[in-house]
Amino acid sequence: MIDLSETKPFAKGGNRICYQHPNHKNICLKITHPGLPKKLKKEASWYKKLRSEKSFDDNFREKNAYQQKAININDKKIWNHLAKWYGFEETSLGIASATELILNDGIIADTLESYLFKYGKTKQITDAINDFEQWLRETLLLTKNILPHNLVVQTKDNALVLKIIDGLGSSSFLKLPELNNFFARKYVERRIDLMHSRIDWDLSGRQGKWK
Ligand SMILES: Nc1ncnc2c1ncn2[C@@H]1O[C@H](COP(=O)(O)OP(=O)(O)O)[C@@H](O)[C@H]1O
Ligand SMILES: [Mg+2]
Repeated sequence: MIDLSETKPFAKGGNRICYQHPNHKNICLKITHPGLPKKLKKEASWYKKLRSEKSFDDNFREKNAYQQKAININDKKIWNHLAKWYGFEETSLGIASATELILNDGIIADTLESYLFKYGKTKQITDAINDFEQWLRETLLLTKNILPHNLVVQTKDNALVLKIIDGLGSSSFLKLPELNNFFARKYVERRIDLMHSRIDWDLSGRQGKWK
């Protein structure tokens, strides 16, 4: 059991609280906000209420999303832009999802969102976004909408590399993209278009709707 009583979280998302592993600096431990899955289930529509409470927990959803075809069939390339997933760990604060913590010289990497707010759309980040986009087309990784706070910016040999740290899975109601590459390509292209809309919306000071 990992004792987190002396560890402060380094970030909080809408679903999970993130800690750096006290003994392994390159491991991120994500713990679902206590009571959240129960609350989400209570607020869900009647047909979603039929699902188990676990299905409302992002850590369990993520576990399933890491078992998708694109990760199983692709070679090492899949990890070029995706944080590794190491499974569950028991901690003093409950079950955590252990993932690769993205670091730059030992410092936890910034999100794309905070990079864009600080520096705008620089040539370096535009190149990084293009590389990421190309990789999505090659691997056909299925993600939910790609949001700038779910990508982090790694520095590698003077270039920037985007890594996705959250939001895997498919938001498609019918499971077609999971079953067939033709639909997967269409689905991924749509996620890429929406990623650009979201980036432009963030940069515009979030005027109007982003979709
Ligand atoms: N593997 C990681 N490497 C670096 N930073 C991370 C990593 N995972 C999460 N973070 C940071 O923690 C924040 C919340 O994590 P996230 O997994 O997105 O939680 P949630 O499921 O609540 O959205 C992210 O926006 C990012 O700033
Ligand atoms: Mg997130």
